[in-house]
Amino acid sequence: MSLLTVTVPATTANLGPGFDCLGLALTLYNRVTMQEADTQLTITISGEGADWLPRDERNLTWQAAKRLFAAANKWPSGVIIHQENQIPAGSGLGSSAAAVIGGVVAANELVQAGFSPAQLLQLAVEMEGHPDNVAPALLGGLTLINQENAGLHLEQIPVPPLSVVIVLPDFPLPTAQARAALPQNIPLQDAIFNIGRMGLLIRAFQAGDHEQLRLAMQDRLHQPYRLPLVPGLKEAFAAAYHAGASGVALSGAGPSLIAFAPAHHAAIAEACAAAFTQAGLRSRSWLLTIDPGGTRVGDGGNSAGSNSSFILHNS
Ligand code: HSE
Repeated sequence: MSLLTVTVPATTANLGPGFDCLGLALTLYNRVTMQEADTQLTITISGEGADWLPRDERNLTWQAAKRLFAAANKWPSGVIIHQENQIPAGSGLGSSAAAVIGGVVAANELVQAGFSPAQLLQLAVEMEGHPDNVAPALLGGLTLINQENAGLHLEQIPVPPLSVVIVLPDFPLPTAQARAALPQNIPLQDAIFNIGRMGLLIRAFQAGDHEQLRLAMQDRLHQPYRLPLVPGLKEAFAAAYHAGASGVALSGAGPSLIAFAPAHHAAIAEACAAAFTQAGLRSRSWLLTIDPGGTRVGDGGNSAGSNSSFILHNS
């Protein structure tokens, strides 16, 4: 029986002021292969999370696939799933979104359900709950997404290639905990501050303007409440700027940080690592760039979305 391969990029949500609305796809990938089988469910996992991610009914990629099968009312006799993960789980780099997108996209192909990318996005958002990770994971690039009740409004914003240093401290920070740290109400002045920064940020990204990023990535809605949750994180932000970063933000709900910079990438990573070491934490870092194409089906180069379209391609 034929073997399907789906490749899904990591994502970084928020980018400072764009809390719950902005997300960017990055060149770090999880790959899912799915094949119809006679036995009900076999899951193997390699790479990130291989030693603890569930290989049974609790597996998120499998749950997403089941959601698609149910929505399409088309069920395979059984499936074999292999996950090859580069995206560290629980890091703020969209590993859950990647698992869900991988599941729905692979299942859509497997049973030839014919769901459109917009329908796949809706299903994945219902499951994962964070459209600012799910949308760029599916479509690539920089995505602005507004969720209101059940509706989604999505815009893809063209951006030039930018280099991003990711630094991930070895510290558990579940998204639920990072969200619980946020106030339910915010001062009007903080809302005004973020609206202004968000406008600047979109403009800075579009122009590839590193000079503007430091100001544009400031935030008052979530980072001030979340940074104290991780030892050394505040110091790592300062160290990244000192080493030459042009803009620094918490990646999603953390604990990883992202630093944009035209140069000095190794120095930025080392400076952040030193700040975490000082706080007693180990850390890992990556140098990535923007993934422009999103989720790919097959081993070839066709992408799930290009520009602002919702078209999925097979290769
Ligand atoms: N925007 C969400 C948050 C992303 O910051 O909580 C969660 O991955």
